[in-house]
Amino acid sequence: MKLILLGAPGAGKGTQAALISEHFGLPHISTGDIFRANIRKETKLGLAAKYYIDNGLLVPDELTTDLVVHRIAEEDCRNGYILDGFPRTIPQAECLDKELAKRNDLLDLALEVDVKDEVIIERMIGRRVCSVCGETYHVTMMPPEVDDVCDLCQGELIHREDDKPETVLKRLQVYRERTEPLVDYYKEKGILKAVDGDRDYLEVFADIRKLMEK
Ligand code: AP5
Ligand code: MG
Ligand code: ZN
Repeated sequence: MKLILLGAPGAGKGTQAALISEHFGLPHISTGDIFRANIRKETKLGLAAKYYIDNGLLVPDELTTDLVVHRIAEEDCRNGYILDGFPRTIPQAECLDKELAKRNDLLDLALEVDVKDEVIIERMIGRRVCSVCGETYHVTMMPPEVDDVCDLCQGELIHREDDKPETVLKRLQVYRERTEPLVDYYKEKGILKAVDGDRDYLEVFADIRKLMEK
């Protein structure tokens, strides 16, 4: 199964993608995670992306699309994958469609995780991510066993640079303007399904599982 996750920043795409990946054995491809890993390693891609990410803007389409096209051509993607945070613009979606068409392939599902803006802001202000493995927590809603320490690898938990309130508002605005039109794009293709993301994360996942098993 090849699916993409749509939803505002902080809607829980990464949280759900990790559960889907584990349950269905599909690789989880998050463009945001790939950019952050490149920023940590100070690669050319990381240096190019950092300014945009820190300011809540989208990284230019050329940089992002190339990265995804290469990634989905890898061996572990043969039986499917989860794209988390890509596509984020109509040109990115068109590029992905063209790339799939070359291989006589299609996306199976575009899943929208829907959450109100007030909830999003609370989630992002409380989010902590592992500086080593990238695992995500929330100080009150999904806390680690020991404060500021990753349950999985004991790495230090940090607050993402782009989770400052003013950057969160900018990211929400960019989402509405540039990414939300993708909801209609996939609706027209007949592959859009939506879940209410404003519930316990395991309840959200139970709905997603049902949709995927149908
Ligand atoms: P990216 O990393 O994709 O950020 P985003 O879309 O803004 O989404 P987030 O990762 O912030 O949120 P999420 O939906 O994954 O939520 P999460 O599961 O963490 O992108 C970052 C930047 O990279 C972009 O701004 C852009 O600059 C650039 N970029 C990336 N892709 C790009 C592209 N295709 N084109 C151009 N630029 C691109 O959950 C949030 C919090 O809530 C966590 O603390 C979590 O523990 C908690 N939580 C989750 N679910 C629940 C629940 N059900 N109940 C309670 N708490 C919950
Ligand atoms: Mg994420
Ligand atoms: Zn960790």
